[in-house]
Amino acid sequence: MVRWARRHRVSLVPRGAGTSLDGESVPVRGGFVVDLSAMDQVLELNEKDLWARVQPGVVNARLQELLRPRGLFYPPNPGSWEISTLGGNASTNASGFRSFRYGPTRSWVLRARAVLGTGELVEAGTLAWKRSAGVDLLGSLIGSEGTLGILTELTVRLSPLPARRVGLLASVPEGTSLGALALGLLWARGEGLSAVEWVDARVATEVARMEGLPLEPHAGALLLEVETPREVTEDTAARWGRGLAALGLKTEVRLFEDAEALWRARGRAGVLMDRRLGPRVREDVAVPLTAWDRLLDRVGALARKEGVDLVMYAHLGEGNLHPNFVCDPVSPQAHRLRMGLWEIAWSLGGTASAEHGLGSLKAPAYRREHGAIAFRALRELKRALDPEGILNPGKFWG
Ligand code: LAC
Ligand code: ZN
Repeated sequence: MVRWARRHRVSLVPRGAGTSLDGESVPVRGGFVVDLSAMDQVLELNEKDLWARVQPGVVNARLQELLRPRGLFYPPNPGSWEISTLGGNASTNASGFRSFRYGPTRSWVLRARAVLGTGELVEAGTLAWKRSAGVDLLGSLIGSEGTLGILTELTVRLSPLPARRVGLLASVPEGTSLGALALGLLWARGEGLSAVEWVDARVATEVARMEGLPLEPHAGALLLEVETPREVTEDTAARWGRGLAALGLKTEVRLFEDAEALWRARGRAGVLMDRRLGPRVREDVAVPLTAWDRLLDRVGALARKEGVDLVMYAHLGEGNLHPNFVCDPVSPQAHRLRMGLWEIAWSLGGTASAEHGLGSLKAPAYRREHGAIAFRALRELKRALDPEGILNPGKFWG
């Protein structure tokens, strides 16, 4: 198909479940959508070497279901894990709340097969868990959003399921320094901390009401997950409570013996906000944690200057903020808000694109963040792998 498309200069846009947020799989310049969702077979599961060889259309949650009874899991878990595909996850280098501990998809793909824009089939990577192979084609394919090649097979690493995952929930009163809290929590990685999530008071109120979570009114919430072999005792919540108090958060800490209850509630945040706020600009900047409090101040000031409602949540442990500006997401104002937000992130040493990918929305950010020289070099790679520019045109390459 790709050879044919190349010959006829027809563009192809690969697509998994279409859950991405920045127009990654939208055919903005026409052509054909290559729907990979029917390539949904788990081809091989190696329980000794801990990997799975899958077709790109396998849904993330389906792999997890297959792995759980075997005492295994696949760490990358984007919010869309119940419907998004592993091919889509790889194409966007998707991550999720657990990437605090495990890193994004790129860390978990051992090998990929892809049809390049030339029509040639390449296999990048190996089955070894460890590799130090110079400039890396596999790493470039992951996150390339179908602009370098169409992924047709992936071999992903698996991890043993931890004995238990405990959830901790605490209200975060207005005025708490989240930056100091997050920096302190980095040191709790050794305790098995696997997720550090924050939601603002608006999201917390909504989630608490709909999901029956015990949270104080007018306060945000901190959601933690700890992977631990230890038994959970009366003392576990108290111990974490003392730790958080030492970091400036002096509120009651509630323990959930199974963290899933917390993640179900957190997972509903997007839908609840859709219902409450309607269409909005949903972004995903990240900064170093020492700049976190400045980020929140400046984003708040930007929203006030533009006179728009602002709701926020964050993968706090990774310095990854999701500001939601309530306005028409295709308006000139939305454009100003995005540009303003990216500028803030860059000025603090951060990135415009921490999680959601680039798609058609973030082309200017991609170019700017790399700078002219690096962009030119990367553009040569794109040209080498897709000489006619038939793969997913009109996206971040400009
Ligand atoms: C989340 C997605 C939107 O964190 O990134 O829910
Ligand atoms: Zn997110």
